[in-house]
Amino acid sequence: MVLPVRARKLDFDRSYALYQRALEHIPFGVSSNARLWRTVCPTYMPCSIFIDHARGSHIWDVDNNEYVDYRLGYGPVILGHAYKPVNDAVMKASLRGEVYALANELEITLAELMCKLVPCAEQVRFANSGTEATMTAIRIARAFTKKDKILKFEGHYHGAHDYVLFSTDTPFEKLQPTAQPIEASDGIPSSIRELVLVERWNDFVGVETAVREHHKELAAIILEPIMGNAAVIPPAAGFLKHLRELCDKYNIVLIFDEVKTGFRITHGGAQQLFKVTPDLATYSKSLGNGYPVAAIAGKADTMGVVGPMKVAHGGTYSANPISLTAAITTLNILRKHPVHDRIKAYGSKLMKGIGRVFKDRDISCEVQGFPQMFQFMFTDESVTEYRDLQRVDQELYARFHYELLRRGVMVDEDNEEPMFVCYSHAPADLKHTLWAVEDAIEDATVPRTSIV
Ligand SMILES: Cc1ncc(COP(=O)(O)O)c(C=O)c1O
Repeated sequence: MVLPVRARKLDFDRSYALYQRALEHIPFGVSSNARLWRTVCPTYMPCSIFIDHARGSHIWDVDNNEYVDYRLGYGPVILGHAYKPVNDAVMKASLRGEVYALANELEITLAELMCKLVPCAEQVRFANSGTEATMTAIRIARAFTKKDKILKFEGHYHGAHDYVLFSTDTPFEKLQPTAQPIEASDGIPSSIRELVLVERWNDFVGVETAVREHHKELAAIILEPIMGNAAVIPPAAGFLKHLRELCDKYNIVLIFDEVKTGFRITHGGAQQLFKVTPDLATYSKSLGNGYPVAAIAGKADTMGVVGPMKVAHGGTYSANPISLTAAITTLNILRKHPVHDRIKAYGSKLMKGIGRVFKDRDISCEVQGFPQMFQFMFTDESVTEYRDLQRVDQELYARFHYELLRRGVMVDEDNEEPMFVCYSHAPADLKHTLWAVEDAIEDATVPRTSIV
């Protein structure tokens, strides 16, 4: 381990060269817009750094800078990077072929496992990404209720398909006093906006009013049960139950998008923690410890609309043996080893430690969320909905991000992306991280104008 013991001068020469090369043939040089570190680009560093490899809780860029990783690929890596038992099982499975596009026993095994662990799961269909899973869940809800509209919440992200790309990370100056659907992408047909209602997270009255007014056309309410794409904003006490009751009363399908929370918050996800069972739930990320796998799980009656001449669902790579093997192995490790206990213990110490460092220096900072996924925000009030992020000093966070990189700790550049903890994070990582946070304060509070 060669983590720095003092702030290092970051060398990004190879990342820079690769970024320039990428720009030639890849729009903006990245394969996902979110990978462009826009806040720091190009003031402090390249707009995107290139990774060489990752192992356990650490990640190395192509310039051989090593970091303790709290991005964990936006959350999937629950056990650790290149986790040997998962990789060994996958290597073995690959000797039997990568894709059959025919049924195989692994999908039954995984469906059985998920039905044991997840409260709402009576039936499961598999896919490859969170985007596919939420797209399918919404289609199922529409077919089941024979209604067309959906309701989502400001700041909640459900993937990159047209129906959910509204009011995700809306620039604050575009927000109207009452929540409106605001496109998060060019190229979405304007007619789609008519099918989407948007409300503010934790707004009991707002959502109830919208449901009362629109229930005859409302097929689904979709939400992240713990908001994890606008930092980490838990549901207010009773809010999930309120949504459950509204959905029951008005024949609306309640969809929990557990792509980030599933198998991470507990074995059964946020629905288990909050004891509110949705009709459908979507999974990806921690399900496969980094292998591309996703699932739509739900009650048998709701899932029952899927099938030929009914709701279309499929895909060449759905339920391929590689992803299924990764998922089965990951879930079995989660069940049989103290993964969640260790993650919780580590994450709690980290949250408390970060909070203490800032408190001791009289810096207003809220450390918010759960030990498994949380974020620190420079503000003196807790954040309960997307709009509250306007009060957060995200500039300061961006400078912190860079100062943490200099000290061998990687968090996302975007304050609205959580920090994630995995089973491989070790006491030495914790000690290093808390040193880095404390040591970074002085440098982070002085704005930088060029690469150091
Ligand atoms: C809650 C949630 N849903 C859906 C998605 C989309 O998943 P994917 O990127 O696998 O398409 C994400 C991605 O971050 C997510 O956080």
